[in-house]
Amino acid sequence: MLKSVRRSHTCGELRPEHVGQRVLLQGWAHNARDMGGVVFVNLRDRHGLVQIVADERSPAEVRAAAAGVHLEYVVEVEGVVQLRASPNPKLSTGLVEVVADRVVVLSRTPPLPFSIEGHVSANEDLRLQYRYLELRRPELQKNLITRHRAAMVVRNFMDGEGFLEVETPVLTKATPEGARDYLVPSRVHAGQWYALPQSPQIFKQILMVAGMDRYFQIVKCFRDEDLRADRQPEFTQIDVEMSFATREVVMELATGLVRILWRSILGLEIGEVPVLSYVDSMRRFGVDAPDVRFGMEHTDVSALLAATEFGVVRSQLDAGGIAKAFVVKGGGAAVSRKQLDAWTVFVRTYRLGGLLYAKVGEPWTGPLSKLAPGEQAAVAAACGAEEGDLILLGAGTVNAVNAGMGKLRVAVARELSLIPPGFAFTWVVDFPCFEKDEESGRWMAVHHPFTSPRPEAIGLLGTGREAEMYADAYDLVCNGSEIGGGSIRIHDPEVQSRVFTNLGLSLEDAEQKFGFLLDALRHGAPPHGGLAFGFDRVVMLLCGTENIREVIAFPKTTSAQDLMSGAPSGVDPGQLRELHVRNVEREPS
Ligand code: AMO
Repeated sequence: MLKSVRRSHTCGELRPEHVGQRVLLQGWAHNARDMGGVVFVNLRDRHGLVQIVADERSPAEVRAAAAGVHLEYVVEVEGVVQLRASPNPKLSTGLVEVVADRVVVLSRTPPLPFSIEGHVSANEDLRLQYRYLELRRPELQKNLITRHRAAMVVRNFMDGEGFLEVETPVLTKATPEGARDYLVPSRVHAGQWYALPQSPQIFKQILMVAGMDRYFQIVKCFRDEDLRADRQPEFTQIDVEMSFATREVVMELATGLVRILWRSILGLEIGEVPVLSYVDSMRRFGVDAPDVRFGMEHTDVSALLAATEFGVVRSQLDAGGIAKAFVVKGGGAAVSRKQLDAWTVFVRTYRLGGLLYAKVGEPWTGPLSKLAPGEQAAVAAACGAEEGDLILLGAGTVNAVNAGMGKLRVAVARELSLIPPGFAFTWVVDFPCFEKDEESGRWMAVHHPFTSPRPEAIGLLGTGREAEMYADAYDLVCNGSEIGGGSIRIHDPEVQSRVFTNLGLSLEDAEQKFGFLLDALRHGAPPHGGLAFGFDRVVMLLCGTENIREVIAFPKTTSAQDLMSGAPSGVDPGQLRELHVRNVEREPS
């Protein structure tokens, strides 16, 4: 390894075996205490922390120099390693200290806007503005180290499996992954625009046509979409594509990659990964990315309540809706009215009219006590509810019930601390090919329009039965987070054109947008498929954080700003003129 020119050791390296050695260290003053003639400085770098002391063993001018060291100054220290009189078991270097005989301040700082040490109470905007200070925190350094290690594991594994890392363009044409594009105006071609890729989807397929056989890339993707705790406008994928692959092969490869990541980084065996169909996932959990670490599965009780006179449920079922319930064991006493009210507000955000519940006992209490006794018994038996349990029930449209009750299941489990630690992976397969956009009434691709329908479903294209078509698509879910997804692709240009038509794209539109892909497919395309992992999400799980900003060096806020650099920002009018672009007044919203 490259030997640093000046420093003899890093700050995390010194141990009792170094006692008596002369060392030269460089780092940041993590804290500095002047105890009247004896100065202690904890020197920190990425590798750790070590105590420096300047006392009667140090020359007077060194003691004076040490006394002038303030928090986060960058300092160079020379001295001799000694055993500490009072060891610090919390530090890996805690048995030793360096008695300084030279202290030089290399760089100063005014008082910091927030402290590096301990719990940071400063608001996140301030921390993002001073990201370089925030990044000095050991927790964030640990996350970036884990991210680096994970990337190394990925590259080694993929290389070992015969994959080539090939870079694809960033200035390109729109790829339809369902978000808005970031656009870049062309200076040379007035009025024309590049799009930043939402994923390398089309290029990786074309690499298969080009005979690359097995491709991967750790790659930035750009999506202008509403941001959440696990979404960034620019994020990183581990993008994969294979020729002549069935979905089983792709899933085996991806499971292998996750297995080796969890083993190498966390020392954990993930075991067999179960495969769940989309239909079963929606039925049991209400969502397509279920957290299967805990139960509280949904039971569809629509049929049991088909003849109910309980008005709220009746009206929803009459309108073609459904009713689903789940049980909180022992929740009858444990859950307060206030919590139930809060959960009711929560499900309303998913367009569910409200939340019905019953505390199971003799008699039932709560709104569901209005069910007829026979209905109560049938619902309790179907959901497995016993005396003392709480039944939660949602009635409404299929989408609202699934979304509301699906999200509620997780929220309740979190609130009541019912989720065990650890990791539970699941594959979800056989997604529908298309779904109707509720506003426009048009078919939309559930994955993306290059996803192959299951072979037996292709015949349904153009028959009006597209809702019944299932796709050769798969998502990998861990702890309720979709960490990856992909599909077998359409490699027949004629089927691809028919799918475009079904999505309401005219032939001209399809040619204009994706003609280069259709053309490539006409020139000897092998059957192929692949997937992409959300690398940031994988690293979040490996680091045990639920905030994507904790695993990205320079993340953006939820309103897509970089508070450190001040992006996005206005630009020089001359630059705009060169790009043939003009700012217009913002339209009143
Ligand atoms: P998809 O759109 O499902 O598939 O993306 C793959 C994975 O990327 C992650 N992801 C994100 N992570 C952080 N911020 C975001 N804004 C964001 N959006 C997506 C998710 C997701 O599972 N081209 C296809 C893959 C393929 O078919 O091979 C694609 O991009 O973890």
